[in-house]
Amino acid sequence: MTSRDQAHAPGRGGPSRRQLLFGGAVAGIGAVAAIGADALAQDDTPDAPTTEAEQALNGASTIDFYGIHQAGVETPPQAHATYLALDLRPEVDRDSLRRLMKVLTDDAARLTQGMEALADSEPELARIPARLTVTFGFGPELVRRAATDAAAPPEWLRPLPEFTIDQLEDAWSGGDLLVHIGADDALTVAHAQRMLLKDSRSFTTVRWVQTGFRRAHGSEKSGTTMRNLFGQVDGTVNPAPTTTDFGDVVWIADGWLAGGTSLVLRRIRMDLDGWDRLDRSGREQSTGRFLAHGAPLTGTDEHDEPDFDATTAIGFPVIPEFSHLRRARSEDTSQRIFRRGYSYDGAPTGDDVSSSGLLFAAYQVDVDAQYVPLQRRLDELDLLNQWTTPIGSAVFAIPPGCSEGGYIGDTLLA
Ligand code: HEM
Repeated sequence: MTSRDQAHAPGRGGPSRRQLLFGGAVAGIGAVAAIGADALAQDDTPDAPTTEAEQALNGASTIDFYGIHQAGVETPPQAHATYLALDLRPEVDRDSLRRLMKVLTDDAARLTQGMEALADSEPELARIPARLTVTFGFGPELVRRAATDAAAPPEWLRPLPEFTIDQLEDAWSGGDLLVHIGADDALTVAHAQRMLLKDSRSFTTVRWVQTGFRRAHGSEKSGTTMRNLFGQVDGTVNPAPTTTDFGDVVWIADGWLAGGTSLVLRRIRMDLDGWDRLDRSGREQSTGRFLAHGAPLTGTDEHDEPDFDATTAIGFPVIPEFSHLRRARSEDTSQRIFRRGYSYDGAPTGDDVSSSGLLFAAYQVDVDAQYVPLQRRLDELDLLNQWTTPIGSAVFAIPPGCSEGGYIGDTLLA
């Protein structure tokens, strides 16, 4: 694990929030003036947990903001995620984009470390970061407005080609600027969302907001593969964060996006009412894995290698030809992606009792070379398609991280 992904509990040997603020060790020191230095000086609230029990609280844990990569990709997924897609106002140009990203970077750098944002209207809410990360993504239009000869838009930064399974709705598609907020506490996410939106509203309008969840922090051992709302273990075969393999699949090596990546975010409706009518064996056949532990139908452990040649007594493949497992696995190892999904659950319509699905987030170096061929194969044939329908789709360039004094997007906008 890199230091970025270690959750830190402030107060264990590090400088306190007040020392950081008054020592000027954080960017945007003007915030002290904005919220009133006197008020801070008189604030007797303890900066850091002091007792052992307080130190064990996850609310105090922070994820480093600065680094080669933005946090929120390789970071072990938090319990809550909100994806905000913003559209740029017509007058926003390269110079104003630079101003916008400086302000948003400063907000994110502070909030992720448990410090109030500039002129934070609810500073108390900022003090429980709970592994907060804020990750920015640039859509095609933002990069078009910012691009120069030296920093051109990547070829893949455009909407995905149409797929026959798609029933895309504008309400969940596209967007110029993505703000992905993740934390183990929903109140923290809501506060960060509000502060970031306040500071971007003169530059942008909100296009969509998508909120997702996983199991609550502490409900199960960390590192457990998530389950989606079909009850399936989802995310078993995935590049392991911080390995060389992960770097090869996810991190871009050159150009203004070096240290960055791409995100395909699909909102995929899962027909839970239809799934209810399928028996357990049918459910397992559709994916090629057991529901109990996620092992392939030819194995007993989640991480067993599937045996695609194994046949039943009457000669049928144990793992069906059209199962999701078979169709999603390419023989071409360059067609791999990193999946980091979240469930969503909305208000049911009509006679259904659910309106749920997956915020399917896929990260890769090159959307065209890695994601699209995989999606085409699943579009052609995948048993799971009967119960899943993509209803939203967006593609973003995720710029690299920045160092203190820099800002997210500086390799494009500086
Ligand atoms: C709601 C939609 C989806 C559901 C419920 C779903 C569920 C699953 C499950 C249960 C597994 C097996 C366990 C695992 O390795 O994670 C799996 C594997 C996988 N899925 Fe999906 N999936 C969905 C959509 C997609 C999409 C849209 C893609 C890519 C375009 C995709 C790509 C993959 C890949 C690459 C694997 C690993 C295959 C391997 O074993 O090599 N999935 N998915």
